Formats: sequence, C-alpha cells, structure tokens
Amino acid sequence: MSVTVRVPAKVNVQLAVGAARPDGFHDLANVFLAVGLHDEVTATPSAGGLRVTCAGPDAAEVPLDRTNLAARAALALAERYGRDADVHLHIAKDIPVAGGMAGGSADGAGALLACDALWGTGASRRELLDICAGLGSDVPFALVGGAALGIGRGERLTELEVGGTFHWVFAMARRGLSTPAVFREFDRLAEGRDVPAPVASQDLLDALAKGDPEALAATVSNDLQPAALSLFPELADTLAAGRGAGALAALVSGSGPTTAFLARDTETAEVIAGALRASGTCRAVRVASGPMPGATVL
Ligand code: C5P
Repeated sequence: MSVTVRVPAKVNVQLAVGAARPDGFHDLANVFLAVGLHDEVTATPSAGGLRVTCAGPDAAEVPLDRTNLAARAALALAERYGRDADVHLHIAKDIPVAGGMAGGSADGAGALLACDALWGTGASRRELLDICAGLGSDVPFALVGGAALGIGRGERLTELEVGGTFHWVFAMARRGLSTPAVFREFDRLAEGRDVPAPVASQDLLDALAKGDPEALAATVSNDLQPAALSLFPELADTLAAGRGAGALAALVSGSGPTTAFLARDTETAEVIAGALRASGTCRAVRVASGPMPGATVL
C-alpha cells in the first residue's frame, strides 16, 4: 500500500518585504500563484524507519537526510500522533531545486498529506496547516494551492479569487540562490533607509480576480529582485531576453534565481520560451500556467 501526492510549484506575483524583525524573519505581503510544475511524493510503509529517495534531473542536489522538508514533515506528523515515522518517501522531482519556486516546500506539504493518508491520522485541515507553518513560510501555500495572500512570514494565508488562467514561462538559472542569503542582501541594500510595512496591492488583487494578464503585468512586483540581481547579476540578461521576446512582465520568482515571464496566451508563451532557449542565458526553460490546485492525493 502506498500513497502518492502531487504538489505544485509557486510564483510570487507580489512579494512585498518589510524590515527585518527581531526574530530575523521579515514581514511579508506575499501573493502566491500555484503553477503547473509539479513534484510527486510517494509514501510507502518501511520497516527500516524513515528513508528519503529522489529522482529527476536535479535529484543529485536534493538532500536525503533529515534536513529535507519531506522528512521533517513525516517526523512532525509522527511526533504529533505518537507513532514511528516508519516510511519511505520517494520524491519525483520536476520543480527546480533552490530556484525560488518553493520546490522544497512542495515536498514538505506533499509528504505531510501522503503520510496523513497512509497513517489514517484523521488530522484536520487546520492541524495540517499548523504543521506546515512550523516547517517553513511557503509550506502552507503548497498545501492550499490556487492563489493566496500570505502575511506574517508568508504563512498566514487568505485564499484569493482568480478569474482566469495565466500563462507563464520560467527560465531556470545555471546555479541556485540561498533564500537566507537573498534576505540578508535585502537587509544590506536597505541599510540606512526606512522600509515601509508590506501591503498587498489592490490593483494586483483586482487583476487576479479579473483574470486579466495585462492588468496583472502592470502590477506584479518583487522586493527581493534587487537583492537577487545583486547576488546574481547575469539574471538581468535573462529578464531582458524574455522582455525582448514579448513577455508582458518579467520578474525574479521569489528569492530566485528562477525568472518568470507572463505571456498573453499559450502561443506567445511558446515564442518567449523559444527566444529564452536561444538566448543562452539560462539552463532550461519551461512553460506552465496557473492557478493550479494545491497538494492532491492521486
Ligand atoms: O521559512 P523558511 O524556512 O522558508 O525561511 C527560510 C529563510 O528565509 C529564513 O531562515 C530567513 O532567512 C528567510 N525568510 C525571512 N522572512 C520570511 C521568510 C523567510 O527572512 N518571511
């Protein structure tokens, strides 16, 4: 008997970042959109205790020890229900690693839902969301999917209406970026100036609700983008290549280094993808649309 859960990646259409808090985290107004790049996490009973394996193009970069969010999710659920985490978690990985698309968080949410179903814990949605929030700021959204505004560290979610499908192109960079390093660079760049409290843009929420790509393009923003570009200046060339190919908007996804390009429709998305591939400024290019459902048992 085994349970497989499919979990989407995310792009942040708005990432407003406040000043560093005393606990080192930053208050955010974080508008997440789940997009159609997925990992699948399969949980199978294992007599030998907790074990994590991973397959996929980036599998070599995925830690298989207890730092993996999938392992941490299984351990957190097992602890809450007073049982052993005697499970083999296999991750079929398609979301870029260290890419700013919440792939690790997706694996955490996927493992949690898979173990919950395998063990029949009967945990409520609220309990699962609480465990997700304890695992990381982006993990609750991977469970919920669709579109949502995250405040606090990004973990306190309000689901959002989306009135249509948005078409995206994602360019994967040749190396990763560490999220804490990008936040540290944000703090360094912000030294000596006032950082306003982060607020969601009403125009952006309206554009999502309407399903209007032009209106969304006019309102997307990412306060981490200058920090990501400062640590990884070559990303500017990828952004320029996508803009030049007709993207309505070009931005760094979350803490990067994946770059995201909003297209008017699927045909334009393919044109932009072709131009990005030909530009030689990135490692791989993918087309994906959103919103997509959150973690789902297959
Ligand atoms: O919550 P998560 O473990 O994903 O966060 C990873 C790192 O990103 C944190 O250790 C912190 O450096 C940074 N972070 C932050 N403010 C947030 C979310 C993440 O500073 N709201």
